[in-house]
Amino acid sequence: MNDINVAILGIGTVGTGAYKIIESQKDEFPYKTGSKINISKVLVRNKNKKREGINENLITDDWSEIINDDSIKIVIEVMGGIEPAKTYISEALKKGKSVVTANKDLIASYGSELLDLAKENKCDILFEAAVAGGIPIIRPLKQCLAANKIEEVMGIVNGTTNFILSNMTDEGMEFDDALKLAQELGYAEADPTADVEGYDAARKVAIMASIAFNSRVTFDDVYTEGISKISAKDIKYAKELGCDIKLLGVAANTDEGIEVRVHPMLIPSEHPLAGVKDSFNAVFVKGDAVGDTMFYGKGAGELPTASAIMGDVVDVARNINFDCCGRIGCTCYKQLPIKKMDDICSKYFIRMQLLDKPGTLASVLSILGNNGVSIYQMMQKKRRNNSNAEIVIITDSVKEKNLKDSMTILEGMSIVNKVSSIIRVY
Ligand SMILES: NC(=O)c1ccc[n+]([C@@H]2O[C@H](COP(=O)([O-])OP(=O)(O)OC[C@H]3O[C@@H](n4cnc5c(N)ncnc54)[C@H](OP(=O)(O)O)[C@@H]3O)[C@@H](O)[C@H]2O)c1
Repeated sequence: MNDINVAILGIGTVGTGAYKIIESQKDEFPYKTGSKINISKVLVRNKNKKREGINENLITDDWSEIINDDSIKIVIEVMGGIEPAKTYISEALKKGKSVVTANKDLIASYGSELLDLAKENKCDILFEAAVAGGIPIIRPLKQCLAANKIEEVMGIVNGTTNFILSNMTDEGMEFDDALKLAQELGYAEADPTADVEGYDAARKVAIMASIAFNSRVTFDDVYTEGISKISAKDIKYAKELGCDIKLLGVAANTDEGIEVRVHPMLIPSEHPLAGVKDSFNAVFVKGDAVGDTMFYGKGAGELPTASAIMGDVVDVARNINFDCCGRIGCTCYKQLPIKKMDDICSKYFIRMQLLDKPGTLASVLSILGNNGVSIYQMMQKKRRNNSNAEIVIITDSVKEKNLKDSMTILEGMSIVNKVSSIIRVY
């Protein structure tokens, strides 16, 4: 039995989890893979930092000690960021080392390039941990569901925003208070932009869409809108309508091209995704043969994310032992167009403050009607202050362009004091 030596690049949250699993599973891995898995080196930025539970003889801040060590067969990249991660991964692949990474930023923008490099060098590059942390979704899409035409992938893939929205829903908190709580509990970073503005979710959706539809989708292709404008009032109205508001990543394979977007959405409270609370993640996949499937679990954290990393390491170790690395590489063999947001159809929730005088509502409905926007449901609350009346409209499904055109006209009219929210409805 040959040992398989690995190097871990980065020993923060995920790297520490991977280290712990390698230790705790060391007697099991030989049975599962045919090899003992040894940690040869751990790369860090700051060699002098105290790292509890990590063998300090393994620590290095010198990449050349790893790249030039031919006995290292697998590089686990858990540093994050684009550079130097991209350079290190590329160099490792060129040297014939397989790579396991959790780096969604890198894969969402440079996945194609790295997969090509892996193919050229007959190596694996696996990234299960890059989407929805501990939840298996990349491998199910690439392998278990490979016999399907995947029609839709939709999910809650950011735990921070789901925690914030759960607290706004269950505790009636406003966005700023819920964000502060998330930061105090360690669910949100000091700079929460990537999470609350939907960029983190967009990266994951780009990766999932590419695999699901066999056509490359990058981060820049994803329309992204975050949750910072959602108010406790919107959530209260949504509840009255039998819905919850979630930040959803949606990717659909339509005859006109791929729809790919991240934005808040009202979904019926009985939909399985509405029940996904706090920092949990879930991904809903619809295939033509399998029908509806849902994957649920912890989308981040030390051990859940390391579980996905080490699942990939076990896979690579098996491939090394059977001399079949590179067996499943890039699956993007089509070039489908990305559908423009203006052409996407959706129902909309519109909350606006109107001047409270006769004829106002009729004028609003007429503008909407003239632009092809028909009304599915409407609410006007008695809570009037000064000369304002607040109305909530749910439209029928309509093209985004028509909705935008009508809202531009309405926002310019003196009878419309404010358009407070426009949120898409499932
Ligand atoms: N945290 C999660 O729950 C989670 C979930 C899914 C995916 N991910 C992804 O996993 C990756 C790692 O995340 P994390 O939360 O574990 O990060 P982290 O806690 O910030 O740890 C990063 C580690 O990488 C090292 N590092 C950073 N830049 C380096 C460089 N230039 N050279 C050498 N070492 C460097 C750091 O070294 P020092 O300690 O010396 O600073 C640190 O040990 C990211 O791509 C992230 O998106 C994380």
